[in-house]
Amino acid sequence: MSSEKRFSFDNIPDLSGKVAIVTGANTGIGFVTAKELVRKNAHVFVASRNKDRGEPAVELIKKETKKDAVEFLQLDLKSLNSVKRAAETFLARNLPLHILVNNAGIGGTPFEKTSDGIQDQFGVNHIGHFLFTLLLLPTIKASAPSRIVNVSSNGHHRTTGIEFEKLNDPNAHTSMQRYGQSKLANILFTIELNKRLLGTNVYCNSLHPGVIKTEITRGVVANWGTWLNPIISIISLFFLSPDDGALTQLYCATSPEIEEKNHRGKYFVPFGEVGEPSAQSKDEELAKKLWDFSENFIKEKLGDDIFSKSCV
Ligand SMILES: NC(=O)c1ccc[n+]([C@@H]2O[C@H](COP(=O)([O-])OP(=O)(O)OC[C@H]3O[C@@H](n4cnc5c(N)ncnc54)[C@H](OP(=O)(O)O)[C@@H]3O)[C@@H](O)[C@H]2O)c1
Repeated sequence: MSSEKRFSFDNIPDLSGKVAIVTGANTGIGFVTAKELVRKNAHVFVASRNKDRGEPAVELIKKETKKDAVEFLQLDLKSLNSVKRAAETFLARNLPLHILVNNAGIGGTPFEKTSDGIQDQFGVNHIGHFLFTLLLLPTIKASAPSRIVNVSSNGHHRTTGIEFEKLNDPNAHTSMQRYGQSKLANILFTIELNKRLLGTNVYCNSLHPGVIKTEITRGVVANWGTWLNPIISIISLFFLSPDDGALTQLYCATSPEIEEKNHRGKYFVPFGEVGEPSAQSKDEELAKKLWDFSENFIKEKLGDDIFSKSCV
């Protein structure tokens, strides 16, 4: 991985007239991403599960950027009904959507299921974003040129595939393997979606943002105990700052290079370089299998016509 910063906040073009949604934007690299998009004049939705954490983040962005075009959008990726409501709330505004950053995530958490009954790292990191993206897709297409950015992780190397039939078996995988599968899913979703977007001006890419000092370590602490906190404090001295950690997704979301170089279905690493994901991430059959699994799971929960307007 190159450590050269070939992209900085200064390279973000003026985004006047652009509308963006960033999931999990109340903290971490999602917060920085939303803030820098607002600073460059985009109208940004901070899509977060918790009003008590989302609304203060919106106010802080307004204060730090001295701009007002930022709003809270309630989105809990752990519930398909909440995801559907969030998409409907946004669509009811009749706004275009030029940038969708699927950033929210959990990692290393103890085994739990979402309210729809699927293991939660897979459910939050992949299934929720899959539904959210497809419900917003007609608007994203109509707003082209537009971007979809899926925030994955080099943690996807921790798995050799996705064992669909064992996703809900609490003893089948370690917590970090579950994280790895969900992050592999982010890359495979990008590949298959990109295939289905052929002939459009929607640019869909995934990325590893770096190893960054954020609240993501909450998951492993919940899993292993608070004795980890002092160790995390020490090793995180060597981690990237959230500002630097946000650069790769800001590159994917805004850099003119994405369109100039026709970057589609690529996996980026810091700071905006094309990276090399695992062999499994390039498995087109697995990507199709993941798509079908995700679609069927959601149809089973929300009804067969849930994707009737998605046109993919
Ligand atoms: N930090 C790293 O080293 C690193 C490395 C590789 C990849 N990543 C990826 O980068 C992304 C951002 O992570 P981060 O490091 O900034 O972590 P973070 O500080 O923990 O932020 C994660 C965000 O996701 C939100 N979120 C979690 N569960 C959600 C749900 N059910 N519905 C909606 N939002 C939810 C959180 O909301 P709450 O605040 O309400 O919990 C928070 O806003 C993740 O996808 C992560 O996998 C991070």
